[in-house]
Amino acid sequence: MCGIVGYIGHRDAYPIIVKGLQRLEYRGYDSAGIALFDGNDINLSKTKGKVEDLKQKSEATISLEGTLGIGHTRWATHGIPNDVNSHPHYSNSGDLVIIHNGIIENYESLKKELINRGYVFTSDTDTEVLVNLIEEVQKSEGAKLGKAVQIALNQAVGAYAIAVFDRKKPDEIVVAKLGSPLAIGIGENEFFIASDASPFIEFTNNAVYLEDEEMAIIRLGKEIKLRKIKDDAIAYPNILELQMNLEEIEKGGYDHFMLKEIYEQPRAIMDTYRGRLLAGQSLIKMAGVDQHLEKILNANRIIIVACGTSWHAGLVAEYIFEDLARIPVEVEYASEFRYRNPVITENDVLIAISQSGETADTLAAIKLAKEKGAFVFGVCNVVGSSIARETHAGAYTHAGPEIGVASTKAFTTQITVLTLLALKLAKEKGHFSTSRFHEYLTELETIPAKVEKALEANPLVEIIADVYKDSTNCLYLGRGYNFPVALEGALKLKEISYIHAEGYPAAEMKHGPIALIDEQMPVIVIATNKGHYEKVVSNIQEIKSRKGKIIAIVTQGDTQVRELADHVIEVPETFESLTPLLTTIPLQLLSYHIAVMRGCNVDQPRNLAKSVTVE
Ligand code: AGP
Repeated sequence: MCGIVGYIGHRDAYPIIVKGLQRLEYRGYDSAGIALFDGNDINLSKTKGKVEDLKQKSEATISLEGTLGIGHTRWATHGIPNDVNSHPHYSNSGDLVIIHNGIIENYESLKKELINRGYVFTSDTDTEVLVNLIEEVQKSEGAKLGKAVQIALNQAVGAYAIAVFDRKKPDEIVVAKLGSPLAIGIGENEFFIASDASPFIEFTNNAVYLEDEEMAIIRLGKEIKLRKIKDDAIAYPNILELQMNLEEIEKGGYDHFMLKEIYEQPRAIMDTYRGRLLAGQSLIKMAGVDQHLEKILNANRIIIVACGTSWHAGLVAEYIFEDLARIPVEVEYASEFRYRNPVITENDVLIAISQSGETADTLAAIKLAKEKGAFVFGVCNVVGSSIARETHAGAYTHAGPEIGVASTKAFTTQITVLTLLALKLAKEKGHFSTSRFHEYLTELETIPAKVEKALEANPLVEIIADVYKDSTNCLYLGRGYNFPVALEGALKLKEISYIHAEGYPAAEMKHGPIALIDEQMPVIVIATNKGHYEKVVSNIQEIKSRKGKIIAIVTQGDTQVRELADHVIEVPETFESLTPLLTTIPLQLLSYHIAVMRGCNVDQPRNLAKSVTVE
């Protein structure tokens, strides 16, 4: 939940590291720090607060010289956010300095041992224990930095992405990874280290993503050498050429990354179709599926595991897989699934959905299912992420970098991938005639343009947002495929505007929530013309008769609901199973505008981080 950046090369390290940290602030932003080596001395500055605060403090207090440095933006786990607990951390001698993303679970026992050997600690962090453990190994074993890091990490239990350097050896940085993401950017006689590629993409497209339990000794003028932490085996770097450009990272002229990403959905869905949806040939090609088709087709059941918005995409997938492919599906919160001793057999297929590919609970659920022999298929958005590498096979959502903490385009592209998969399996299982299959593929091709159309409601949504921006509660209702969308709409409003909101199956209202309805309660109802339209209309009448304020998401040209609702937002018509790709859009925009009007930090909401890498 932290962002780490490092640089060794021929340029000034300070500007590269600070800009890199700003790009990674979506990962954590409660404190930040930097350590630069100017050839003689380590100049370290760190502070509670944002990277901007670090900039002001560093430029006022330390020398910014040096072509080697490391930096960190934090999301506190061990030790409250304050100056002392922020990174980087020195070893007792002051020779070693480290940054760390992750958690060393056995740090207390290691700390006790080190205290018995005379070490003193200034912070409450597990990271300060790790850097002193490395120092102790250097001293007691006479080991070089690389070796000392390896030995120390073999004594540590937990997750980490670290970068450490030694004032006595200023031409190298040692990095290592287990569970937390770490990428190395390879330039002309320079190296960049970061939690993802966004800090160095403007300098190089060549990157190595470290595998779990791998480390690298990065030395100027030398090839990158990777080693396995456990057995010192040499590992050969798999250098990827990244298809990502700076502009994609920047806000592209939108006020917030979230709004930019909402408007990127037509392109993101099209990119997710690319090379997979071949309507002309009545074909769906998914490399990760084709290789394992028998395994997936003969599954007893599909278990979907995920967290947050990805879990909502899993719920939509349950409706699609059971309705179209007739495969039994169970959708599980990864955090519950991993600990409830679930029954998993080798005839089960587990689908793990994750935007970041780093969510700890989802990763653990995957490992559990693999141990029990299930086939694990991943749906991820980040190339090279831990979940992508941990699963047997998978399909990437090509949403591009999602910077806003509130997930939007990842949600619709997850549903897109899962819809393609369900349709493919339905066809293979003979549940679809060729003509119906073709009809479906043709309709899918229209979705990006229909999302564009749905986005045109933005000005109207902004007006409606202004009416309800001071609400304290809000209810979201949907039936069938749109019940999960109601849950997602409520989550979006909660996480960025801090208004308490709940999503419910519309028919559940009478079993309790209807008691909440009065003239203060805005109720967002998804009432598209497919599926259970008439039943939703009667739910709307129940709300109306209790003076609830109704904002209805309807199919273009709807007249009946328009009579009943206080506000209607239209989306284009499509197949019932595809409506979630459209009905989500106005809910994303509504939560966005309400949050902006309430002055909330839309891209970095309080108490939240983009990827939750600890449980
Ligand atoms: C959604 O807006 C939130 N950021 C959060 O619920 C998120 O969906 C959840 O943490 C799962 O993240 P993942 O998709 O990266 O695994």
